Amino acid sequence: MSMLEIKNLHASVDGKPILKGLNLTLNKGEVHAIMGPNGSGKSTLASIIAGNDAYEITEGSIEFEGKSLLDLEPHERAAAGVFLAFQYPVEIPGVSMMNFMKTAMNEIRAQQGLEPMEPAAFLKRVREKQALVELDAKLANRSVNQGFSGGEKKRNEVFQMAMLEPKLAVLDETDSGLDIDALRIVAQGVNALRNTNNAFLVITHYQRLLDYIVPDVVHVLANGKIIKTGTKDLAFKLEAKGYDWILETEKA
Ligand SMILES: Nc1ncnc2c1ncn2[C@@H]1O[C@H](COP(=O)(O)OP(=O)(O)O)[C@@H](O)[C@H]1O
Ligand SMILES: [Mg+2]
Repeated sequence: MSMLEIKNLHASVDGKPILKGLNLTLNKGEVHAIMGPNGSGKSTLASIIAGNDAYEITEGSIEFEGKSLLDLEPHERAAAGVFLAFQYPVEIPGVSMMNFMKTAMNEIRAQQGLEPMEPAAFLKRVREKQALVELDAKLANRSVNQGFSGGEKKRNEVFQMAMLEPKLAVLDETDSGLDIDALRIVAQGVNALRNTNNAFLVITHYQRLLDYIVPDVVHVLANGKIIKTGTKDLAFKLEAKGYDWILETEKA
């Protein structure tokens, strides 16, 4: 059984079709990259997986571990092990990172019918994950993202992902403004966290990220559909030739 199975997904916003028959299968242990021109529907796909109700699913299905994801509320999806890293991390003044993480983790545990994590176990996990993603311990005591540099926000986001140990992490990278350090931070995090039991969907406009994260599969999303699937060589070809080449090939 695959971890994520998207079949013939059609989705609209305000009656305007955005996804137009998207198919995607992701198995555990795999890292897939989705690339594609601006406006092709990449962020829409990420939002739909996370459960953003701005989008209307008009056709098709999304199964996560054999169960319909579309029947679940966003918090239930998180409890099932789906994590979405936001393109634009929010600042939460007055809420320390530690309290934020504790609340997030315990909410997920409650959904799963588990007791809140013991303080000692929580701290142990914090220390382990801080080391794993090389997060400066003093960031943990500051308010969520407040006054963080771009790189610190990224590292923080990767830390949150590490803490929650999702089965499926969807990373939607901004199409601009990601500097090389931020790319490295995200990539280091993914590489440190990837294992045979989880899976990553890495959405990116640029091939550069894939210099650091080696994906098992690369998909090209254009005009609401996956129009090509290949290995990382496909990403290099896109970098060299641009998207026009593939769009032309599709028409032919
Ligand atoms: N909430 C929304 N309201 C209106 N239009 C939207 C919304 N979300 C996405 N779209 C439109 O859907 C298309 C795909 O957008 P998006 O998924 O953000 O593309 P990408 O991430 O590939 O650049 C664009 O034309 C965008 O304007
Ligand atoms: Mg986008």
